[in-house]
Amino acid sequence: MGYICTPEIDNLKPVTILAIESSCDETSASVCVDGKILSNFIANQKVHEQYGGVVPELASRAHMQNIVPVADAAIKQAGIDLAHIDAIAFTQAPGLIGSLLVGAQFAKSLALALNKPLIAVHHMQAHVLANLINEQDKPDFPFLCLTVSGGHTQIVLANSPLDLKVIGETIDDAAGEAFDKTAKLLGLPYPGGPLIDKYAKEGNPQAFKFAEPQIPGLNFSFSGLKTSVLYFLQKQNTEFVQQHLQDLCASVQHTIIQILLKKLKKAVKETGVKNVCIAGGVSANSGLRNALTETGKNLGWRTFIPKFEYCTDNAAMIAITAHYKFLNQEFSTLDISPTARAEW
Ligand code: KG4
Ligand code: ZN
Repeated sequence: MGYICTPEIDNLKPVTILAIESSCDETSASVCVDGKILSNFIANQKVHEQYGGVVPELASRAHMQNIVPVADAAIKQAGIDLAHIDAIAFTQAPGLIGSLLVGAQFAKSLALALNKPLIAVHHMQAHVLANLINEQDKPDFPFLCLTVSGGHTQIVLANSPLDLKVIGETIDDAAGEAFDKTAKLLGLPYPGGPLIDKYAKEGNPQAFKFAEPQIPGLNFSFSGLKTSVLYFLQKQNTEFVQQHLQDLCASVQHTIIQILLKKLKKAVKETGVKNVCIAGGVSANSGLRNALTETGKNLGWRTFIPKFEYCTDNAAMIAITAHYKFLNQEFSTLDISPTARAEW
């Protein structure tokens, strides 16, 4: 199957993009017109809760059930119909391969049926560009973005929408994994991040001290923290954990935030860039949001935090990234395949 014809760019005509996100356990579709998000429909998959983590096979099946109604809802919510769509975008990588295949196949089929171009988007680039969704308050270039999700922890230097460079990343667990794995040790269900956030609000962040890694440069490590929480809890009984749950959550959250902010401050110092954003599922954490705002005030940074719905996985971030790729004429062929891992 060859190339889909590159569309003529008509500067007077608004560009309408339908975007699909299906990299993990959220099925999402979004419509954006000239970079303005008109809809962002997200179907969460509750089926994984009982297993304490995402079951890839079940995620793919749920995407299969959700994808058509979710895309339909996004189109209706935006008040457009199929005839208005100028391009179809989808998450090409990284993610669970079965989940990615469902979104990719749907997007390719629709592109073929409508004879419209296809735009492949990198999920982690899209998390960064979620910060460009808010027209009223978006960062100027260059900016730094701390991207913290279930699978990644990165510091990205953004020179322009499509010129993004990873300058630091985790060498083991991601920040989201640190939340979810310690939550599991505390007996909390998956995903534990939002629950740690909730209990931490009532607790003392200084109550317990957990290990902070000493990693050189701008890279992160979270596996030591998890082990230090594990060793500490092995010496306690269940009653202790129940009685001190709020303090334990507050202390774990505080340690994770300290690790993140220490490297972010170092990145600002090294690059001289003082426009600072956060992105990804963990950027929904209220402690991290407050700490970033506070640090920004103290150190003279301009800080940017996406709305909650654009922090965790969503198709609006795929749509805004695709908008810039459309303007740059970056289209894909119909033989493109998703990949579970992808460098950038
Ligand atoms: O970006 P995301 O939705 O999916 C991935 O691309 O991985 O991130 C999911 C991660 C999970 O680890 C989840 O526990 C974490 O984001 N998360 C939070 C909060 N909300 C979601 N972690 C801490 N506090 C939160 N409020
Ligand atoms: Zn994500």
